[in-house]
Amino acid sequence: MSTTNAATLPVAVTGLGAYLPERVVTNDDLARVLDTSDEWIRTRTGIRERRVVAADQATSDLAIEAGRRALRQAGVAATDLGAILVATTTPDHTVPGTAPLVAAGLGAEVAAFDVNAACSGFVYGLQIGGSLVATSGEPVLVVGAEALTRIVDPGDRSVAILFGDGAGAVVLEPDVDARLGPFDLGTDGRDPSMLWTRAGGTREPASEAVLADGGHYLTMRGGDVYRNAVARMTASSQRVIEAGGIKVGDVDLFVGHQANLRILEAVRSRLGIAEDHCHITVDRHGNTSAASVPLALADARDAGVLHGGATILLTAFGAGLTWGSCLLTWRGDA
Ligand code: UT7
Repeated sequence: MSTTNAATLPVAVTGLGAYLPERVVTNDDLARVLDTSDEWIRTRTGIRERRVVAADQATSDLAIEAGRRALRQAGVAATDLGAILVATTTPDHTVPGTAPLVAAGLGAEVAAFDVNAACSGFVYGLQIGGSLVATSGEPVLVVGAEALTRIVDPGDRSVAILFGDGAGAVVLEPDVDARLGPFDLGTDGRDPSMLWTRAGGTREPASEAVLADGGHYLTMRGGDVYRNAVARMTASSQRVIEAGGIKVGDVDLFVGHQANLRILEAVRSRLGIAEDHCHITVDRHGNTSAASVPLALADARDAGVLHGGATILLTAFGAGLTWGSCLLTWRGDA
């Protein structure tokens, strides 16, 4: 069962920034090195291309650029932030966290910590960050950033085609007229092997044997993940709609975790949300895990489909299993 919190926070998004690495990898590029095809990838996932980090880039580099853009738009200095949260499942290093590196890159010595809830991390970060804003009155930067192409086996066609790299960030600030929430967050950790990187942690540290059998790569039981993604995101979205006292028809924009077009379509139609109220970026970004929701939000803003006062439904699902959903009223100046 999830933790559903019916409270809404008087917190607004006042800055929204995105950063995508320059290198574009198309399905045809992958089909030249893997036993796959553009047709298979498009029909099974909706993905046409994805961005891939440069050799000298890591997750913090993407996060710093997205954060810088969000701060510039909000007109907030990094040194004025109360905290920086980085949602990521692909940290630069096992130790330390990525958020302190991002804070340093932005020129601040503020509180900074990682949130690892896999693909749901950004929604988790919004509730934690929003709560910090509401209690401290200080602005908070929440970043979703990933370099997933660094942890997939480039020779494994079942996962190498799915993932992309990027970062999205929001600045949250107090605003008595704004509403962030309700939130619904949940986990089911009974079978982590459904989607995991088996080795390289404390259960099975890195060793020659791990390198030899590829235990340091991300693996997934796609069908099981697919079924859980549809069921969990649908139920979690329904809980925040009910807790928010709104009707499905009141949702102006549905931004789901961009893992697979068929998953998004299944969730959208089960919820009864109209097709033109759903924003899609998986075709151009692939699955960017914790970065996918803020990247899709920024893409919606750039496409001109976000207007002041809009009610946005965010929902995400990922490894763990984890899931999370929330409502967000758009202020219109981000
Ligand atoms: O961010 C966390 C959330 N992650 C997700 O939501 C991912 C969820 N899962 C999925 O999106 C889908 O399960 C996949 C897209 C990963 C796979 O689609 P599927 O329809 O479940 O395919 P499948 O795994 O059942 O594989 C069907 C066939 C298999 O061949 P056989 O056994 O039928 O001969 C696979 O070997 O397709 C084969 N296959 C491929 N063929 C061409 C698997 N990957 C590929 C590939 N190209 N890239």
